Amino acid sequence: MNTGIQINLEHPVFERIATICKEEKVASYVIGGFVRDLLLNRSCKDIDIVVIGDGIKVANLLAARLGNAVNVSVFKNFGTAMIRLEDYEIEFVGARKESYRNDSRKPDVISGTLDDDQKRRDFTINALAISLNADDYGMLLDPFNGLSDLKNGIIRTPLEPEITYSDDPLRMMRAIRFATQLNFTIEATSLEAIKSQCARISIISMERVSDELNKIILSLKPSIGFKLLFDTGLLHLIFPQFTLLYGVETIDGKSHKDNFYHTLEVLDNICSTTNNLWLRWAAILHDIAKPATKRFEVEHGWTFHGHEEKGARMVPTIFRHLKLPLNEKMKYVQKLVLLHLRPIVLAKNEVTDSAVRRLLFEAGDEIEDLMKLCHADVTTKNEFKQRKYRSNFELVQQKLIEVEEKDRVRNWQPPISGEFIMQVFDLKPGREVGILKNAIREAILDGEIPNEYTEACKLLIDKAAKMGLNPVIIIP
Ligand code: CTP
Repeated sequence: MNTGIQINLEHPVFERIATICKEEKVASYVIGGFVRDLLLNRSCKDIDIVVIGDGIKVANLLAARLGNAVNVSVFKNFGTAMIRLEDYEIEFVGARKESYRNDSRKPDVISGTLDDDQKRRDFTINALAISLNADDYGMLLDPFNGLSDLKNGIIRTPLEPEITYSDDPLRMMRAIRFATQLNFTIEATSLEAIKSQCARISIISMERVSDELNKIILSLKPSIGFKLLFDTGLLHLIFPQFTLLYGVETIDGKSHKDNFYHTLEVLDNICSTTNNLWLRWAAILHDIAKPATKRFEVEHGWTFHGHEEKGARMVPTIFRHLKLPLNEKMKYVQKLVLLHLRPIVLAKNEVTDSAVRRLLFEAGDEIEDLMKLCHADVTTKNEFKQRKYRSNFELVQQKLIEVEEKDRVRNWQPPISGEFIMQVFDLKPGREVGILKNAIREAILDGEIPNEYTEACKLLIDKAAKMGLNPVIIIP
C-alpha cells in the first residue's frame, strides 16, 4: 500500500488542510483525478480530499482561515463540500463505504476507512492517494497497483469489474473516456464486463452519459472511444443512429464505403484543426442520413441523394435524445450538416462568382468552419484525387476572399426589406411581397445587379410593373 514514494505537493493549501486535520485529529488524503494527473504531468484543477471523518467540517474550517472571499458550497445529501480557490475547485468528502454516485438520491452516507473508500472507486489509477498526515505527509498510497497501471497504460477496476460497474454503470462510459483521453487499454475482463452489462447504462441519466461522450469527442483521437463504444454495445444503446452508418453493402460488384469508419476518420481529421465541440459534432453528424437515403441505381451505383437535408432535419431529434442543447449550438450544427456538400460540389465544377456568393450568403460567419469540415471530409486514399480536391478547395477559398471583399454578402441583408415593399406598393403581407423580395435577392446573388439600394429600387419598380403593381409613394 505504502509505496515509499514521496510526492511534492506544491500548493500551500495542502499544508493548511493538513494543519486543520491535525488539530481536528482526523486523517485526510488527496485522492482521485488530481493524483493521477499529477503523476501523468497533466494539469488538473479539481482537487479531491477524502477525510476520515467529517469532510464538511474541515471544509468550513479551511474557508474560515482563508478569509471572507472564500465560499463553501455544501451538498449535505452527498456529505460533500466544495471550495473555490484561485482557479481550483477543492472538494471535501468523508471516507465512505458505499460507491461514489454523483447523482445518488440516497441521503445516508455510510462512513468508512481509507481502504473502504479506495476500494469503492472506479479505477486503480483513480484510487491512488497522497497522505496529508503528519507521520507520512506527501506519501503515495497505492493499494491496487495503480502506479503500475498508470505506467503500462491500463484501465483496471480495483474490485471485480462486475461489482465496480454495477455500483455505478456510468463507469463503463468513464472507462472508455479515460482509454480515449489517455490512450490506455481497458483490461480484458473489464472490457468483457462492460459488454455483458452494457444494458445497465439505461439507469443513468442521459445528461451524464452525454457529458462523458462529449469528453470522448473533445479528446485528441475520438475514434478510439467510438470504436470501443461500438464494440461493447454501448453505442447501440445511447446513440443508435450512429451505429446504422456501420457496414458495407455490395450489389453487382459495386460497394459503397463504410460510413461509420469514414465518419470517424472525418472526426479525427477535424480534431487536428479545431477544439470546437460543436464543429466536432457537425463532423459526427454530417453523413448521419446516409443509411436513410441510400439507394442502388443500376446506372450510377450507390447514391445518397438529399442526405444533407435529411441529416439536418435529424439533428434536433438526436440532440433532444442526447440531451444536448437545443439552442444556437444545435442550429450551428444543423447548418453545417446542411451545407457540407456545397464546397465540394463547387470545387468539382467551375468556381463561378455567383456560386461562391451564394455559398457565402448561406454560410455567413460559419464559412471558415464549413471549409474546415470539407477539408476533413476528404478521406480518399487515392493521392491523385486527394491533390485535386485540395487544390480545388484552395481555389474556392481564394475566390471566397475575393468575392467577400468585392460584394460583402457574408451576413448580408438585402438592401430592400419586405416592409419597404409593402409601403411603396400599399400591399398587405403575402405572396407578391415574397416574389419581389426574392427577385432582388436572386439578382444580387447572381451578380446581375450590384448589392446597392438604388439599383435594387430600379429592379423593384421594373419587376412590380410586370406584375401590374405601381408605386403609391415616391421612393425616397
Ligand atoms: N469516481 C468514481 N466513480 C465515478 C466518478 C468518480 O469512483 N463514477 C471517483 C474517482 O476516484 C475519481 C474521483 O471520484 O477520480 C473524482 O471524480 P471526477 O472528478 O468525476 O473525475 P476525475 O477522475 O477527477 O477525472 P476528470 O476530472 O477528468 O473528470
